[in-house]
Amino acid sequence: MDSIVVTGNGPLKGQIPIAGAKNACLTLMPATLLSEEPLTLTNAPRLSDIKTMSTLLQSLGAEVTQMQGGKVLALSSHALDNHVADYDIVRKMRASILVLGPMLARAGHAVVSLPGGCAIGARPVDLHLKALEAMGAELDLREGYVHAKAPGGLRGGTFEFPIVSVGATENALMAATLAKGTTVLKNAAREPEIVDLAQCLRRMGAQIEGAGTSTITIQGVDRLGGATHPVVPDRIELGTYMLAPAICGGEVECLGGRIDLVQAFCERLNAAGVSVEETEHGLKVSRQNGRVRAVDVITEPFPGFPTDLQAQMMALMCTAEGTSVLEERIFENRFMHAPELMRMGARIDVQGGTATVTGVEHLKGAPVMATDLRASVSLILAGLAAEGETVVNRVYHLDRGYESVEEKLGNVGAKIERISGQ
Ligand code: UD1
Repeated sequence: MDSIVVTGNGPLKGQIPIAGAKNACLTLMPATLLSEEPLTLTNAPRLSDIKTMSTLLQSLGAEVTQMQGGKVLALSSHALDNHVADYDIVRKMRASILVLGPMLARAGHAVVSLPGGCAIGARPVDLHLKALEAMGAELDLREGYVHAKAPGGLRGGTFEFPIVSVGATENALMAATLAKGTTVLKNAAREPEIVDLAQCLRRMGAQIEGAGTSTITIQGVDRLGGATHPVVPDRIELGTYMLAPAICGGEVECLGGRIDLVQAFCERLNAAGVSVEETEHGLKVSRQNGRVRAVDVITEPFPGFPTDLQAQMMALMCTAEGTSVLEERIFENRFMHAPELMRMGARIDVQGGTATVTGVEHLKGAPVMATDLRASVSLILAGLAAEGETVVNRVYHLDRGYESVEEKLGNVGAKIERISGQ
């Protein structure tokens, strides 16, 4: 298994290009299942999760061709000859459940294994299933698989999500595009990835209103066509790299970064004493002198502070002046990075969903273990600010969500290298 070695070596300077959003791409790709015509996604990120989704779609009979080194994905679901999403692929990634809605809407039946994914607490898919039931789907759970049928096709309905779920909103939104009549999704997720999906579906001929608000209305159509769609920039990758100069000083411009994608996060960065400036090509982040100030963070659905940036923000708070309280409200058990950061000298007290971090002047390099995707990159950020060498083991988590992390950070002056394992 590969590991990444980071040696703290002071301020960073330069530019980091931000890739297309992993989470957007993972929901745009299954949208191909809704149409016989080709779907082309540009600005796709080159990540192992994207490969997993490609493998899953190919297993269902879709064609996936990578062009321009993987930056463009040409998808075609002209013939779908298999309606079973197998456990062996689905278990690798929770987003695999996103094939359920589109496959059911197009073919009238689908069998999808219950998913796996990052170990960040129990993550059920009950809301995905309930939303599809509200559109007339008949569901049966047997031997770890969801068996779904809609013999006469799905029909529009109204569904109010009891809690905000990004994936369930996406599944329901895709399914509703081909349902008969009008579907109204209430308490829908408002994440930029939902807006991006709706935009792509509209390009394919779907009739959707209200994406980006908590009520989305979809007027079903008989068929969808092809489209070419650019994947929205990755706001989590953006936030992660914005934290690099925040944690070890310097000035970095994140190319392609947009403030509307990271507003709540930027507000916290500013409060901590980090400057963020909009430029012609993205966002420039700088921190020149002294330590950052401790700030409190509560994770919430968009437009709130994203749970996917909580671990990275905690790394910053480990070196802040004062005490900060980070409250995780989206996932249980999402502080697995805390004990690893403590191995580097951080002072963190976790009680349930709340972590209290008392900043220290210097972290110290140590061997640490990546436990999930965002946790692994938080350890790299901490390593940038630490004295000495930090070895992050089990970086396969990282490769699921960050393309060329060593190259991107190395290009702005970080001392970072990948060591290939056996
Ligand atoms: C997506 C993102 C993930 C991010 C999360 C929250 C993708 C591929 N992943 O995950 O990176 O951390 O949004 O922003 O886009 N829940 C249920 N029942 C369900 C579905 C969800 O109880 O059927 C709960 C979850 O356990 C969690 C909360 O709802 O506590 C929010 O999860 P959700 O928004 O669905 O996350 P994902 O779509 O899985």
